[in-house]
Amino acid sequence: TILIIDFGSQVTQLIARRVREEGVYSEIVPYQSAAEAVRRLNPVGIIFSGGPASVTDEGSPRAPQEAFDAGVPIFAICYGQQTAALQLGGEVEGGHAAEFGRAEVTVNKPSALYDGVWEVGGRYPVWMSHGDRVTRLPDGFEVVATSENAPCAVAVDEERRIYTTMFHPEVVHTPHGAALIRNFVRRISGARGDWGMKAYREEAIRRIREQVGNEKVICGLSGGVDSSVAAVLIHEAIGDQLTCVFVDHGLLRLGEAEKVVTLFRDAYNIPLVHVDAEELFLGALEGVTDPEVKRKTIGKLFIDVFEAEAKKIGGAAFLAQGTLYPDVIESVSFTGGPSVTIKSHHNVGGLPERMNMKLVEPLRELFKDEVRALGRELGLPEVFVGRHPFPGPGLAIRCPGEITREKLDILRLADEIYLEEIRRHGLYDEIWQAFAVILPVKTVGVMGDYRTYDYVVGLRAVTSVDGMTADFYPFDMAFLGRVATRIVNEVKGVNRVVYDVTSKPPGTIEWE
Ligand code: XMP
Repeated sequence: TILIIDFGSQVTQLIARRVREEGVYSEIVPYQSAAEAVRRLNPVGIIFSGGPASVTDEGSPRAPQEAFDAGVPIFAICYGQQTAALQLGGEVEGGHAAEFGRAEVTVNKPSALYDGVWEVGGRYPVWMSHGDRVTRLPDGFEVVATSENAPCAVAVDEERRIYTTMFHPEVVHTPHGAALIRNFVRRISGARGDWGMKAYREEAIRRIREQVGNEKVICGLSGGVDSSVAAVLIHEAIGDQLTCVFVDHGLLRLGEAEKVVTLFRDAYNIPLVHVDAEELFLGALEGVTDPEVKRKTIGKLFIDVFEAEAKKIGGAAFLAQGTLYPDVIESVSFTGGPSVTIKSHHNVGGLPERMNMKLVEPLRELFKDEVRALGRELGLPEVFVGRHPFPGPGLAIRCPGEITREKLDILRLADEIYLEEIRRHGLYDEIWQAFAVILPVKTVGVMGDYRTYDYVVGLRAVTSVDGMTADFYPFDMAFLGRVATRIVNEVKGVNRVVYDVTSKPPGTIEWE
């Protein structure tokens, strides 16, 4: 294991990614609990992340003494460099000309950190982002690379194996950064590089068995990648102690329910309760137009249905969820303060307390693309593994204004045609998420010799890394024209199609 001590940088997760890409397991812990993590994980190497604070500020974060005492190599980045220098007896001064963005380092002396990557005398581009600077190095350290505004671009103590950089090797703007991290992880720390999805699968199965024992586990299946992978993995571990519940709230895409039921019941032989709750959900949503009320209504009903189904199978001690790593990393926030609720995301968050269940979350250590890799390892079909995200409240939030069966049926058909065309043109995997929405207005058109007065369908497609920010996808106009023609011709009730060219921010991905 490589332990990453987080000082609150926006890009700490990228360090974990780079380490894992080397086939080495890595875990991020906030600096406050790093002492305990050093003991628990017994890492072969430790990385200090960057962070927004200044080490000259009173009460700014420090690395635990245990990290230095562990006797394993340390790679300290940016803020990590400054706190390491200070804690080992050096000096740091704030307020120097900040080198934000691209900079160039000149390599003056060799170091194990860039052995085989950078040569003495060479100049290389890196990404800097800090204004403080080390003015006196601790004993045993020497500067091996410099840049114009960063005399300590790289400072190392080869004997104690402590490597510090003022730049960020983890971002793609530092072109050789991944190679430096590889050197640190594989050569300097000696990590083996045998971590991968096969190893993860075996280890996860062992842990699930250990955690669950003979108890029953219940898992809400949405048809999305995360809950599907979690369910298949848990089933492999404990077989029929697992029951999956698939709630069909009548707000699913065309053919979705059949696909999920076929895959899990027939292909995987996993006990699956398919709850047809369309009447219940659509009844409760009748006349509701406010997006937050829609979300909350759906969230509450989902919990009711789930609870009722759990009772029917005699209760379960555990609830399985497909929670991912980015959701669980404790963030190190220096600003604090409550953030504004943009949307109430629907999940099964209220369930564990209400039903007194413990959680099984076998994907807690993984990033989204790692979950996809695990899904492939488990033999899940590619069409499932590569799916775009689909929100819990489903089509309800793609139907602004009142939700009616008529509108849902129109929306399902339009959405199906749109995605069919996207797949046919080989664009599906390039797009993070694509879907249709139906607007609560009718407009006038002409078809043949007749006047029409029908609904407008909006098309959305975005690229994104994590859903937090997004850009609209730049389809070519001929493609959009073809989709519009097909929708208007094939879907009764639609006579106009528009494309959403808003990015996030200021728009959100979903329309409600
Ligand atoms: P927004 O619309 O907030 O969406 O830009 C960001 C991502 O989150 C998905 N989303 C949801 N997922 N329950 C979910 O499970 C929800 O209530 C929910 N609302 C939005 C959305 O599809 C996009 O991928």
